[in-house]
Amino acid sequence: MSILIINIKELIQIEESPRNFVSGKEMSELNTLKNSWLFIKNGLIHSFGSMDHYDSSMTDDEDELIELDATGRMVFPCFCDSHTHLVYPASREIEYIDKIKGLSYEEIAKRGGGILNSAKMISEVSEDELFEAAMLRLDEIMYLGTGAVEIKSGYGLTLESELKMLRVIKRLKESHPLTIKSTFLGAHAIPPEFKANQAEYVDLVINEMIPMAAAEGLADYIDVFCDKGFFTVEDTDRILNAGMKYGLRAKIHANELDYSGGIQVGVKYNALSVDHLEFTGKEEIEALKGSETMPTILPGAAFFLGMIYAPIREMINAGLPVALASDFNPGSSPSGNMQFILSMGSIAYKMLPEEGIHACTINSAYAMGVHEELGSIAKGKKANVFITKEIPSYEYMPYYYGSNKVDKVIINGEIK
Ligand code: NIG
Ligand code: FE
Repeated sequence: MSILIINIKELIQIEESPRNFVSGKEMSELNTLKNSWLFIKNGLIHSFGSMDHYDSSMTDDEDELIELDATGRMVFPCFCDSHTHLVYPASREIEYIDKIKGLSYEEIAKRGGGILNSAKMISEVSEDELFEAAMLRLDEIMYLGTGAVEIKSGYGLTLESELKMLRVIKRLKESHPLTIKSTFLGAHAIPPEFKANQAEYVDLVINEMIPMAAAEGLADYIDVFCDKGFFTVEDTDRILNAGMKYGLRAKIHANELDYSGGIQVGVKYNALSVDHLEFTGKEEIEALKGSETMPTILPGAAFFLGMIYAPIREMINAGLPVALASDFNPGSSPSGNMQFILSMGSIAYKMLPEEGIHACTINSAYAMGVHEELGSIAKGKKANVFITKEIPSYEYMPYYYGSNKVDKVIINGEIK
């Protein structure tokens, strides 16, 4: 099957020679093509060009061709959401009331709420139930324009429940059309029974969870919540070192609650990304310079928890790339809507629309290791694209926040 989209008002984020990511000043330059066509064949982007040089005989040999007229509409590469926890047992809106009343994230965690609350519930929910609920969430984000998503474990915190979560993610990969990457996050919180002996829990993660997850081929990456009140730099160092031996590259939670040293230890292990980064100063920015680690900001969590915002402008001014992701989870960011994340990039962090678009597409694709196949409109990449409703300009995407501007989603060359 093939799809030809003609009369595209503007084709966004096109690349002739694909890049791994876009950094610094370059982030404010976006390549687009007005009044254009896009041809999709065998699930891939075959070619694109201007309507001024459009030759309709190009598709003469196609037996099954769908032709779409995109007059007034734009075509974007789908968003890549490089950080989510979208496999979870239940929503946590009751704990959210404590947040409204003013309790901090750490206070809620101390009371056994937060991550531990989800971990308590996970053993009561079957693998099938976890799977079905996550499938619905994947559909929801797909129709909002997401084409690739990373999903973490981390609500198990026992060998059995962590493997259960990872097996669910594996089934999702096999069952859902979105491109999915799986991250093992056994070190997400310290279970109450290990409170007095955190090192013993780290031993369990290293000696049992990582080898088992690796033996079953359940994880692409490894994550640690390296922050005040959670895992220390030393814990993180040990865990990432163990993960590395099993070929698991790091993608870590860092510097959300304090200057935790998380960014530095992430860079030391050549992490694919370090995420959150509310507490980032000159030293952290220096550590990131010249590294292959993508600084990833999660505006949904900072907004929902009422935290300080990460210094994105300082990062970009220092020549760094920046990615944005949703952090979709039941505690700190109960939304996987990347259109909203793009808007938050501009509203809260003062990113230019062009910067935000790079951050939600090619840079977040890099942050989950799929930049060679996704994240831009380039020949040979997967045809995961969306067609917008009629919109006046691409700047309208972050500006008109809170509404769905996506009309049609194409995943692997199929209309959804
Ligand atoms: O990314 N910061 C750590 N972990 C999650 C929170 C998950 C939860 O509260 O359930 C986050 O925000
Ligand atoms: Fe997270």
